[in-house]
Amino acid sequence: MRNNMFRRLPVEQATGQLYGGRHRLRVAYRTRDLIVLGLGVMIGSGIFKIAGVQAATAAGPAVIVSFVIAGVVCLLAALFYAELASVVPVAGSAYSYSYVAFGELWAWVVGWALLLELLLAASVVARAWSVFAAQALGDFAVPVPSWLADLVGQPKGFDVFALGILLLLVAVLATGSRLGLRTLWFMVLAKVAVIGLVIGVGLTFFDPGNLSPFVPAARPAADGSGQTVLDAVFGAATGSTPQVFGIWGVLAAAPAIAFAYIGFDLIATAAEETRDAPRSIPRGIIVSLVTAVVLYIGVAVALVGMVPYDRLDPSGPVLATAFDAAGAGAMGKVIDVGAVLGLTTVILVVLIALTRVVFSMSRDGLLPRGLAETRRYGVPFRSAWVSGGAAIVMSQTIDVLTLEQLVVIGTLFAFLFVPAGVLALRRDRPDLHRPFRVPAAPLTATLAIGAVGWLMLNLKVQTWAYFLAWMAVGVLIYLVYGRRKSQLRRLLTEKANHRAGAGAAGRPGASSGTGGPGAGPGGLPPGVAPYPAEHLAPGRSQTGVRPRPQDTDPRPAVPYSAPSPPQNPYLSQPYGPRTSGTGPQQQPPADPYAPGASHHQTGGYPQPGPGSRGRHRRDDETQQPPYPNEHDRW
Ligand code: ALA
Repeated sequence: MRNNMFRRLPVEQATGQLYGGRHRLRVAYRTRDLIVLGLGVMIGSGIFKIAGVQAATAAGPAVIVSFVIAGVVCLLAALFYAELASVVPVAGSAYSYSYVAFGELWAWVVGWALLLELLLAASVVARAWSVFAAQALGDFAVPVPSWLADLVGQPKGFDVFALGILLLLVAVLATGSRLGLRTLWFMVLAKVAVIGLVIGVGLTFFDPGNLSPFVPAARPAADGSGQTVLDAVFGAATGSTPQVFGIWGVLAAAPAIAFAYIGFDLIATAAEETRDAPRSIPRGIIVSLVTAVVLYIGVAVALVGMVPYDRLDPSGPVLATAFDAAGAGAMGKVIDVGAVLGLTTVILVVLIALTRVVFSMSRDGLLPRGLAETRRYGVPFRSAWVSGGAAIVMSQTIDVLTLEQLVVIGTLFAFLFVPAGVLALRRDRPDLHRPFRVPAAPLTATLAIGAVGWLMLNLKVQTWAYFLAWMAVGVLIYLVYGRRKSQLRRLLTEKANHRAGAGAAGRPGASSGTGGPGAGPGGLPPGVAPYPAEHLAPGRSQTGVRPRPQDTDPRPAVPYSAPSPPQNPYLSQPYGPRTSGTGPQQQPPADPYAPGASHHQTGGYPQPGPGSRGRHRRDDETQQPPYPNEHDRW
């Protein structure tokens, strides 16, 4: 089992109970902050560009329907995210859910896809930010030195703005700067105000004639627009050539539009930093997604009602030029400023999520453990610098704007595992408390998986080829590194050693000691390792694995043979803030590896004793309010 690549993380362990205090993130968010985070990331380049591009190139005025289709699919997926986030409220999101539901290899594969999504999303949006920022400078006639003019607002190659914004935001995250939630609130509110203005002003130019024909007749796709997988399959089967517009065009626009909604899934990565996460995360996900869907559809209606779809120019700033064509040219400036603000928050939240996914994967040992180090204010600074650095390199060296669909495929791939994970966990752990439950789960999960799969098949063959290459590299890395370094593997090995040690200790002639009940290093037969003590007491290891400072715990050791507790609070109580004096720390410690034992109650660690120095935060403290006056740090 311990070498099995499908070893599964127990839910209670996934919630962070077996990891040391220095690996904990600081609690910062309330439900309303999560809604702002969600809007911060969802409303970005998509709202300023995608409706126009898809209306002009694929769907015509029926792009409104494409937005509805993509919105419904994302809402379906969001319901499943909400349920899993309420059961496993941890930073890894779909990665951690897959670890719990399907095992390590699948978790790695999903985590690797999320890294693709997030690295590329940060790079793509940083590039778009640069283009809008250069336009905004032009709008207000701000002079740009001639030596800089060719280095800003560039879609590819070295770009100072894209580099600068990524560097700035990575530094903000890595240092726990005070540019935090309040700034995000301000920027998101300003962005939503701009979107409100776009919809309001756009609707004043609404002409129902522009919606006709609502679904333009299908026509052959231009050369070089890229074949989708479905095109290729139909082409091979029927000899047909790729088409745009018509009903298929409306369906084919939906996956591109899914890019616009990307971000609701990232709210789940804030779970470890959220108060009452099992309730707050589902609310944050659903409210922000519904709001974003309404805003996106509002912009789409305003846009296609304002200008005939065939007069939209998809190669430029399509929303601004549409207002220009309608006679409201001044809106271009508002849009550029709104886009600069809006895209800043997208990059920021994407980087936060990227940092948390890297943090989770490294905490589990699948990436180097050092990346999971946190410092003052619970900032995972190493994962911020390393993953942010990777996004910077990507943005400067690759033509990322042509790879936008890779962001979508990475996201949709992770979406597939979430409804499946809900079904698997309901089957395997019906005992878990679920503050949020998806109604009619078997039916809705099948619908969600089918719909997400359908969207994926509407992505380009080239996107699939790149995606498969990325995943192949990922599997190789897992086989070479993660599989051996996995913390779960290590714990399972220790468990096996512990059992072997305990068994040996029970044999005649074994002496009494500290490694387990009646076991002692001196009393074990050759070749049988005693249970390693590093999780029980600081500074000692009986396995030869040197404990890292953050792996040790100053609390006194309790043998793993202590009686099992009578009940698991995860099973009998709802989640929520726990007050000291009640809750799991009052329960007697248990063997966390015993079949059916409650990991949650001991977290694999004995509870704090009178001598505890308090350097580590206790397991139950993730639900506590944030440090006073530090609310706006990341
Ligand atoms: N949904 C985000 C955007 O549209 C990624 O920019």
